[in-house]
Amino acid sequence: MTDDVLAVHGGTPLNGRVRVRGAKNLVSKAMVASLLGDSPSTLYDVPAIRDVEVVTGLLELHGVRVSRGESDGELIFDPSNVESASTDEINVHAGSSRIPILFCGPLLHRLGHAFIPDLGGCHIGPRPIDFHIQALRQFGAIVDKAPEGMHLTAPNGLHGTKFELPYPSVGATEQVLLTAVLAEGVTELRNAAVEPEIMDLICVLQKMGAIITVHTDRVIEIKGVKRLGGYSHRPIPDRIEAASWAAAALATRGDITVLGAQQADMGTFLNVFRSIGGQFEVTDTLPPNETRPGREGGIRFWHPGTELTAVALETDVHPGFATDWQQPLVVALTQARGISIVHETVYEQRLGYTEALNSMGATIQTYRDCLGGTPCRFGRRNFHHSAVIAGPSKLHAADLVIPDLRAGFSHLIAALAAEGTSRVYGVNLIKRGYENFETKLAELGANVERV
Ligand code: EPZ
Repeated sequence: MTDDVLAVHGGTPLNGRVRVRGAKNLVSKAMVASLLGDSPSTLYDVPAIRDVEVVTGLLELHGVRVSRGESDGELIFDPSNVESASTDEINVHAGSSRIPILFCGPLLHRLGHAFIPDLGGCHIGPRPIDFHIQALRQFGAIVDKAPEGMHLTAPNGLHGTKFELPYPSVGATEQVLLTAVLAEGVTELRNAAVEPEIMDLICVLQKMGAIITVHTDRVIEIKGVKRLGGYSHRPIPDRIEAASWAAAALATRGDITVLGAQQADMGTFLNVFRSIGGQFEVTDTLPPNETRPGREGGIRFWHPGTELTAVALETDVHPGFATDWQQPLVVALTQARGISIVHETVYEQRLGYTEALNSMGATIQTYRDCLGGTPCRFGRRNFHHSAVIAGPSKLHAADLVIPDLRAGFSHLIAALAAEGTSRVYGVNLIKRGYENFETKLAELGANVERV
């Protein structure tokens, strides 16, 4: 475990530039979509993160040839020889990511059967897959849950259906999209998630030949087609990583330009950032001396130099404040004067990490009640899903164990903001979603070292 520990000598503002690449939560889904085509697909600006490795492994097991293209971050997926993989081989990836569940529709279309290992991903609540299974059954799939994973067949093919999600789940919306595009007939999905990553997946599928209409009020209609080709796509930039660096700038009293960050996908975050007192400036062209390929422009985020202001915020599905922005920003809120309230309405158990912040000197109390906003589906149940943060608090160093991806990044920010040397255990988990984070930290002037 020793190589999985980072010593963080905190108390130094982070200053400089970092680049974000294609959004993790689009890239992995676009990779799965390549299975649906009958010709190769090319994806640009793919970050070197663990989730990409896991999906690459699963695609290769199913006969997709994955190769590097000419440009940095370019991956080519050739699905000409899709084939079955053994349960044992697939199970090597059990517990490593949530993405395997999205292989159901594409594998049923290509092979007539699928095996999905036990899922992993971050431990931020029970994370059931009941919506996925209900939708797949409505398409005509037979789903057998076994101790080793899930077996699916579609003896009569997959047929369009009408389905209303009980909650606008990102993954279940993607499941329906990836299944409906080649299903016979029309599918109507109600109460769909409309996150930017989903809109970008729809762009990918449209490039492949799919017919998808996004209506108002979260209704998506998909007309099944007989065949899909490959795609060539540059993904939207990672708005979650961008917000994480913005939070790091605010918490450490720094100044970070996030190259590639896109205002349109971050509007709600930017409003909150500004309400706290954070400053930002959007640029639409590349700064001088910046010639690397990718999206033009970016957003500079910096601390105002004066006191930050407490806010009340509530996480929600898009276009609300994304749940994945919550943990990094809470670290900055420990530095704001007054009482901040955070009501987490997407996941029931995503505030456990605040204990670690308290061990560093923060004053955060969690509650079962829906505080500061509208009642959510977790109210009056036994979930501590609201937090009250009293600030400003002087953070001091501590030993921290990373519990999940976003909380992990928040631990890192807290350690960087705190006086003294913290030891952060389990940092490799951060590689699931943050490319080269140690190099980026060094470029921003952070004093960190592997111990
Ligand atoms: C995606 O997870 C993201 N992951 C998450 O990011 C993100 O937090 C989440 O969407 C919400 O925006 C990926 O894209 C790989 P959901 P997903 O289905 O699709 C409940 C990160 O750090 N639900 O929208 O798994 C569920 O329990 C990760 O990058 C059911 O009840 O999330 C949750 O409360 C963490 N039954 C809510 O819906 C189901 O069948 C939203 O989950 C499915 C979901």
